[in-house]
Amino acid sequence: MSTHIGAEPGAIAPHVLMPGDPLRAKWIAETFLDAATGYNEVRGMLGFTGTWRGHRISVQGSGMGQPSFAIYANELFDQYDVQSVVRVGSCGALVEKVGVRDVILASGACTDSGMNRVRFHGLDYAPVADFGLLRAAYDAAQARDDVTAWTGLIFSGDQFYTPRPDLMEPMVEHGVLGVEMEASALYTLAAKYGRRALAICTVSDHMVTGEETTALERQETFSAMVEIALEAVTS
Ligand code: ADE
Repeated sequence: MSTHIGAEPGAIAPHVLMPGDPLRAKWIAETFLDAATGYNEVRGMLGFTGTWRGHRISVQGSGMGQPSFAIYANELFDQYDVQSVVRVGSCGALVEKVGVRDVILASGACTDSGMNRVRFHGLDYAPVADFGLLRAAYDAAQARDDVTAWTGLIFSGDQFYTPRPDLMEPMVEHGVLGVEMEASALYTLAAKYGRRALAICTVSDHMVTGEETTALERQETFSAMVEIALEAVTS
């Protein structure tokens, strides 16, 4: 086992979906995977491995925010030889054209986090998605009529309850579509380990209109997003 994941070597599949909420990981495993078994309960950050259309797939909760996400991503890449990670999460929409329940395929992730400032000695690094995963997810999303998908930049913020929401304005003026809290760490670590990564987010709340999704709507769009992620990671 690694420091935070209690899995035996080989118990985690080469392709991993990562929701923030560990109970979402359980729900994904029970709903989409065949013969899923749990491999981790350390700190309640549940992880499961099963198959989807014959492909071995794992689902691992990440917790919220880049520091938590990075703990699990580091250990998956470094100690379990995971080849691709698709984050399946939620985000807030920053622009009017993106509606609640829409899906954002994050081509890149800006951030206010200090994590990359330390890693890159104060220089700005541009964390980006794996193009193959992004293209496969785009194709999978375009083939559906139940999802409106956007491809573009998101912002990985450190603080959900930010004291400076006005700082998002220049981001919006430069094309950022939504805000979440993890993708920048995922893209940076995947690059460090030479692995593939993509973040897909359903829009759960709207920073412009104030609209929010209901629990049922979140469940339905979450299902579509998981199917897009599974198609992308197995393509
Ligand atoms: N995840 C979902 N909605 C969010 C928001 N408004 N800010 C940050 N992360 C989010």
